[in-house]
Amino acid sequence: MTDRFVTDTLNKADTEFDISLRPSRFADFVGQPKVKERLELFVEAARGRGDVLGHVLLSGPPGLGKTTLAYILANAMGVNIKVTSGPVIDKPGDLAGLLTNLEKGDFLFIDEIHRLQKSVEEYLYAAMEDYVLDIVIDQGPHSRSVRLNLPRFTLVGATTRSGLLTAPLRSRFGLAARLDYYDTSALQEIVTRSARILNVDVEPAGAREIAGRARGTPRIANNLLAWVRDYAQVKAGNRITREVADRALAMLDIDEHGLDEMDKRILETLLQKFSGGPVGVHSLSVSVGEEPDTIEEVYEPFLIQQGYLKRTPQGRVATERAYEKFGLKPRGQAPELF
Ligand SMILES: Nc1ncnc2c1ncn2[C@@H]1O[C@H](COP(=O)(O)OP(=O)(O)O)[C@@H](O)[C@H]1O
Ligand SMILES: [Mg+2]
Repeated sequence: MTDRFVTDTLNKADTEFDISLRPSRFADFVGQPKVKERLELFVEAARGRGDVLGHVLLSGPPGLGKTTLAYILANAMGVNIKVTSGPVIDKPGDLAGLLTNLEKGDFLFIDEIHRLQKSVEEYLYAAMEDYVLDIVIDQGPHSRSVRLNLPRFTLVGATTRSGLLTAPLRSRFGLAARLDYYDTSALQEIVTRSARILNVDVEPAGAREIAGRARGTPRIANNLLAWVRDYAQVKAGNRITREVADRALAMLDIDEHGLDEMDKRILETLLQKFSGGPVGVHSLSVSVGEEPDTIEEVYEPFLIQQGYLKRTPQGRVATERAYEKFGLKPRGQAPELF
């Protein structure tokens, strides 16, 4: 364990642990009622017509269930899913290889789709719209274009940064769904379900304690559960009560609102070193020693959602709530005289 529990948990590739806890049907997918309802309807309509599913874009911070939903959708459609990611496809030929190997109705799941190369993305337009690829063969005066017909397929794209997607790409998705942070009851249900799968003895109050400190994120909830389970095994007779969860999580420096060390460092730096802002993400990144992308994709969305931070055109600004959290006075407020 490091003080970067959140970064480490969210930046790494899916482990066997994640996969074992991943629900494979809509019925086991907890929370996100609106997203679920729309996706289920989309599937039911396509199936009713005997059609392939339209292209789906899933966006939202890491660990909220984008990959999980891609698999659930493929499962519900009864088709195969081929998984890749934006930065891995480095030339149009790679994309052609992936697409020509699909069967009718299959899914191509492109994770981090905002990181596709421009040249690859341009081929995707016709592939998504007309199920064709116009490949240029030979360079120079002999170059000619050959049209490849593709099977009708479904593209499922996932992104942590939907704002970075180009308009032409975005407009080619039949359905775009944005996942939001989960509330504590939904996370409690997820922790309870995971505990059952892992065969861990957890009291409802223990599950709730873990849920409340999981930054609204199922993947974090599951990882905290794993840590608390270890703690309970070594120190508390294998049973997770509220108090056991509390002691175990205190050991990770995760506070009662789920803020971890890096969240706190970002806020403290913003408040103290930059007098509450505004400050650009790059200066902030250098000061706290974390990648700007990670700050933007992982930390900021949660701090914004919790009302500690605001993004303004001039840069990041601390809110009153952030000052309160650290027992400081908002700038601009008259100092107390007596
Ligand atoms: N709605 C949910 N219900 C239950 N478990 C979930 C849910 N969403 C995510 N999870 C769990 O969290 C983990 C991370 O989800 P994942 O789909 O990999 O997130 P993302 O792709 O958005 O980063 C999964 O392994 C799964 O166990
Ligand atoms: Mg994922």
